[in-house]
Amino acid sequence: MTKRAYIETYGCQMNVNDTEVIFSILKDAGYERTEKMEEAELILANTCSIRDNAEQRIRGRIEVFHQQKKQRPEVLVGIVGCMAERLKDKLLDTGKVDLVVGPDAYRSLPRLLEAVSPDHPQIDVLLSREETYADITPVRTDRNGISAFISIMRGCNNVCSYCVVPYTRGAERSRDAHSIVREACDVYARGYKEVTLLGQNVDSYLWKSSAETVDFADLLVMVAAIAPDLRVRFATSHPKDISDKVIYTMAAHPNICRHIHLPVQSGSSRMLALMRRKYDREWYLERVAKIRSVMPDCGLTTDVIAGFCSETEEDHQATLSLMGAVGFDWAFMFAYSDRPGTLANRTMQDDVPADVKNRRLNEIIELQNRKSLERYRAQIGQKHVVLVEGPSKRDPAMLCGRASNNMMCVFPAGDLKPGDYTEVTVVDSTSATLICQ
Ligand code: 5AD
Ligand code: SF4
Repeated sequence: MTKRAYIETYGCQMNVNDTEVIFSILKDAGYERTEKMEEAELILANTCSIRDNAEQRIRGRIEVFHQQKKQRPEVLVGIVGCMAERLKDKLLDTGKVDLVVGPDAYRSLPRLLEAVSPDHPQIDVLLSREETYADITPVRTDRNGISAFISIMRGCNNVCSYCVVPYTRGAERSRDAHSIVREACDVYARGYKEVTLLGQNVDSYLWKSSAETVDFADLLVMVAAIAPDLRVRFATSHPKDISDKVIYTMAAHPNICRHIHLPVQSGSSRMLALMRRKYDREWYLERVAKIRSVMPDCGLTTDVIAGFCSETEEDHQATLSLMGAVGFDWAFMFAYSDRPGTLANRTMQDDVPADVKNRRLNEIIELQNRKSLERYRAQIGQKHVVLVEGPSKRDPAMLCGRASNNMMCVFPAGDLKPGDYTEVTVVDSTSATLICQ
């Protein structure tokens, strides 16, 4: 009998893609996907450990899943992903979880599901040096059928001192370039018009076989060559690794979108050294200048952390001044969260008081909101080619879609349908949307 699996996904896009891999593995094990928790025999949360509040939220969900178990004792609850890897059997000790599976162990799911019962919880949190799930065709869970995410690598070899990811996702490994191209061809054949290549640090992608070596720029060329009307995006870039070759490759291919997500984390070189980012403020600004000299229209977004260990007002001001100087289109901004086991956790003091962290974060957010509005308003009068995604959330008479630089546009529907390209002119804007005609 077919059983139903319900999965909630937390954290990054990589996790969204992992959920698609999990659905594919579960399908082969006789499960079908449901979006209703109440009818599922298997409830999974694909989890994130990046900040403490991410984990707290998932702890709340475990309580909700437990209510389902009380009503239907046969229901199985599983925690998979980064929090499974970080907490391991501590999750089983709650008595509310039957299954704990780390990011490199999803192929064990059928075996674990055979063996599991509420009296016999199962765990597999082995990390791998090889696993890339290259041969697994993800069951796409996006709703629009236009834009697909493709993992090109797993794990991370950087040791940013604040970050838990190297511990939860293990060592970096790059996926077979031809399997990536096959997957991109496959989604294009099914009507998708955009692929986003995903990795913790795409610039260090490197795949070798006996016959060839493929770096990230080479991979971009291979995927861009599939079809001129297939857009290629990627995330995340690392400022220390983004090469001129990648920048020139983007510039040379109109279907590689003009957008780079380039997390800066801090504008203070002292903080960047403590964070072990392996670049300083000047290096970052030089990379931005290079990108803009080659592609003046390139969208730039970033991540910023407020209140890292020992951060002074002067360091904080350096972050504000860098953000002011660069003028990012958009930023993800966080208060520093001490994560057990990281280098910062073991060797530094989380000594910026919570109220100071929050005040600095608010100043960062306020500045970015002003900058976003400036950047979006500067687009008024510009023309953009937009890939139509679907109806606008606010006004169903309008459609929405992204410009190459990743800015969201809304525009009149006309005869357009999802998957079409259309040229629009920007007539107005908010700080997050271009209003177009
Ligand atoms: N505290 C706050 N933010 C963090 N990030 C990573 N680790 C932490 C942490 N311990 C942020 C970084 C990263 C993004 C994905 O999350 O900005 O780029
Ligand atoms: Fe993604 Fe990092 Fe969260 Fe893991 S910890 S899900 S890699 S954001």
